[in-house]
This record gives sequence, structure tokens and C-alpha cells, in this order.
Amino acid sequence: MTKHIPTASIVATPFAGAMEFRLAMRELASAVSIITAGQGKKRRGLTVTALCSLSVEPPSLIVCVNKATEGHKAILQHGSFCVNVLAAEHRLFADSFAGRTGRRGIERFSEGEWTSLVTGAPVLAGAIAVLDCEIINFLDHGTHTVFIGAVRAARSEPNRRALVYRAGDYQGV
Ligand SMILES: Cc1cc2nc3c(=O)[nH]c(=O)nc-3n(C[C@H](O)[C@H](O)[C@H](O)COP(=O)(O)O)c2cc1C
Repeated sequence: MTKHIPTASIVATPFAGAMEFRLAMRELASAVSIITAGQGKKRRGLTVTALCSLSVEPPSLIVCVNKATEGHKAILQHGSFCVNVLAAEHRLFADSFAGRTGRRGIERFSEGEWTSLVTGAPVLAGAIAVLDCEIINFLDHGTHTVFIGAVRAARSEPNRRALVYRAGDYQGV
């Protein structure tokens, strides 16, 4: 028998405390990527782990972005974004695009070599994988927006060590 799940009450009912939730989610090992959007002086980017594949047909993925970030604004303005999957040696990029080095906005692009593919969103040379996306749908969820991106171009380099985040620390895998 199918159980009816009332969506609104799921959002409204506090199932767990914020601290319990954070502690549990810290144990989730996740690949680290930089989401970029915009061109020229309007380029913006942020470090994310809330990213996953959605479907192969059509090629699509999901990324969850905090509405308070500059990257969120740039993604909405341009209707596109690029996922740059980081390699083990990219810790400093991860910290920079997470706002941990004090760099903001366009300053975050001063390190590294940046090009573009189809949408014009910045592509990091040396990323393990790159997925250039157009937004085809999004869901408003409190502090965050869940973006669904249709992948217009993708490229990858096999056999590289990936950057993974778990329990507040980076690891190479
Ligand atoms: C490992 C790691 C993972 C993160 N994952 C996300 C994420 O999935 N979504 C998000 O909105 N912010 C995430 N953040 C936080 C953003 O990277 C951070 O708030 C960033 O500075 C936002 O850019 P802004 O300075 O332009 O606001 C993460 C940070 C770190 C260090």
C-alpha cells in the first residue's frame, strides 16, 4: 500500500535538532566541487558538496545552493552554471571558494587558469571533471535553492585523486 506523504508537514515538523542533524551529516563523505557562473567581471563561484547526478537521459544533475551567496545570484542571472570537480591538490581552491581565505567575488578567480565551454561559465583547468549546465528547473527550499541542471557539455580526466570532505576536513581519495 502506498503511504500518502503530506509534503508541507514534512517541512514544518522538526524531526531532529539542528545539532543532531549537523553531526550526522558531518559523517557523510562528499566530493568537493566549485560551482561557477557568469562571465568577465561578473564571474562568481562557491565550493559545494550538495551535488549529485539526477539522470542520464537527459543528462542532468542537482545542486543545492544557499540563497545568501553571490554564486546563487549569478546562477539565476545567467541561467547556467558549471560544476568543477576538484582534485586532491585543490584544497586551497576549495577554501578560497568557501570564503575561508577572505577572497570574495571575482577575486576568487585570481588563482588558477579559467576557460569556458558552452554556457560561458568558468571552467577550471585541471579539474577532475567539468559539467557545464543550463538550469531547466529549480525548487525553493528555505535557505537554499535546489537547481536542476541540464548538462550541455562534460569532460573528465580518469585516474586522478579526488578531493573529499568529511568531518570538517579534506582527504584525497
Ligand atoms: C566543504 C564545503 C562544502 C560546502 N557545500 C556547500 C553547498 O553544497 N552549498 C552551499 O550553498 N554552500 C556550501 N558551502 C559554503 C559555501 O562554499 C560558502 O558559503 C561560500 O563562501 C559562498 O560564497 P559567498 O562568499 O559568495 O557567499 C560549502 C563550504 C565548504 C567548505
